Amino acid sequence: MTDTRSLYDQYVMPTYGRFDLTIERGAGCRVWTDEGRELVDFGAGIAVCSLGHAHPRVTKAVAEQAGQLVHTSNLYRTRQQAVLAERLVRLIELDGKVFFCNSGAEANEGLIKLARKFGSTTGRYEILTFQNSFHGRTMAGISATAQEKVKTGFAPLLEGFAHLPNNDLPAVRAAIGPKTVAILLEPIQGEGGIHLATPEFLLGLREICDANHLLLLFDEVQCGLGRTGDWRGWKSIAPEGVEPDGISWAKGIANGFPLGGFWARHRTLDDRGPLCNLLGPGTHGTTYGGNSVACAAGLAVLDEIEEKDLLAHARESGAYFAGVLRALESPLITEVRALGLMIGLEVVADFKDRIGSTDSRPPSLVLTSLLMDAGLLVIPAGEKTIRFLPPLNIERADIDAAVAILRSVLASPPLKSSSS
Ligand SMILES: Cc1ncc(COP(=O)(O)O)c(C=O)c1O
Repeated sequence: MTDTRSLYDQYVMPTYGRFDLTIERGAGCRVWTDEGRELVDFGAGIAVCSLGHAHPRVTKAVAEQAGQLVHTSNLYRTRQQAVLAERLVRLIELDGKVFFCNSGAEANEGLIKLARKFGSTTGRYEILTFQNSFHGRTMAGISATAQEKVKTGFAPLLEGFAHLPNNDLPAVRAAIGPKTVAILLEPIQGEGGIHLATPEFLLGLREICDANHLLLLFDEVQCGLGRTGDWRGWKSIAPEGVEPDGISWAKGIANGFPLGGFWARHRTLDDRGPLCNLLGPGTHGTTYGGNSVACAAGLAVLDEIEEKDLLAHARESGAYFAGVLRALESPLITEVRALGLMIGLEVVADFKDRIGSTDSRPPSLVLTSLLMDAGLLVIPAGEKTIRFLPPLNIERADIDAAVAILRSVLASPPLKSSSS
């Protein structure tokens, strides 16, 4: 039998710089490889498996729903989609409506289309986004993303995006012109390196949007739905006074079952009625989005988070984890940035020199590989940061186990990693 790596080499497009690991099975925050190696997983599929791998409640919901009805298309109604939409609207405590899709990039596409439709009667289409952001890999997603590396080779991009420095209200005010229609940002940047918007920035953006008749759109694909210890990532930063007009979600929404969605507010901004009704029949759609199995998985996730009070648990565990990381006092660490269980650890720029590594990859990838070899999965973010995104139900003993691996790698890093 041909081994998995060879099959990938021959038949799967080489779009990812994959790590040399074939994962076969998972349970909670552990995974096992095809060679029987056990690893502690603090990536959770990039902030996706909020309840950990193979969570029994999700498994049961998926199996039961799959035995009853998997897919109908969106030509018809299903109970699961309706109930999940209602739950999401109630959880964020803001009136509005939800459109379901399959991924984060698609959710942002929806927000971008919503903004274009909103601006179509006034000739406005430009959306302001922020440096180091990440909004997905579709053409609109890479056009919105303010990182050159995702755009290279794909010109011409979608027009109508301007990229601005983070947390800089004067720059935002200066960038607004007659074509500007919306501001889109991740309240906590994930893939860019765990960078938080300031409360003043979020409050200021709301004011600017109100004053200029713009939509304020939050990409909560990574930071939303519990990751920061609140259903609303932005609320963990600015508890009062900031209400968005649109939100995109994906990742943690269904514990790994492909599901995304975007929400638009029930707010009448012009004579066309509430924003959440602007995308009428025939304007937007997807065959799979919000299928009944994905929505059943989503409902199971929300039930578990609510019943086990995992938002409070995420806040407490995140504070404990960040505290332990800050106490490491390794000369290789420059900063720990954290909100709930969205935690970034940045290493020194000359990390590779200091450990004597000749690996050509950025420090974040080198450290990720070293940790993987030592039994811990984390996610690189930007050049110098690694992300810890464990399940929301993570136990202290597992945090301690992860930190022990990190401590030993930083104390005496092996010079070579298996992927170097
Ligand atoms: C903030 C943010 N937006 C959008 C996306 C794209 O989501 P997906 O990969 O599901 O398309 C990601 C994925 O990392 C993300 O972190």
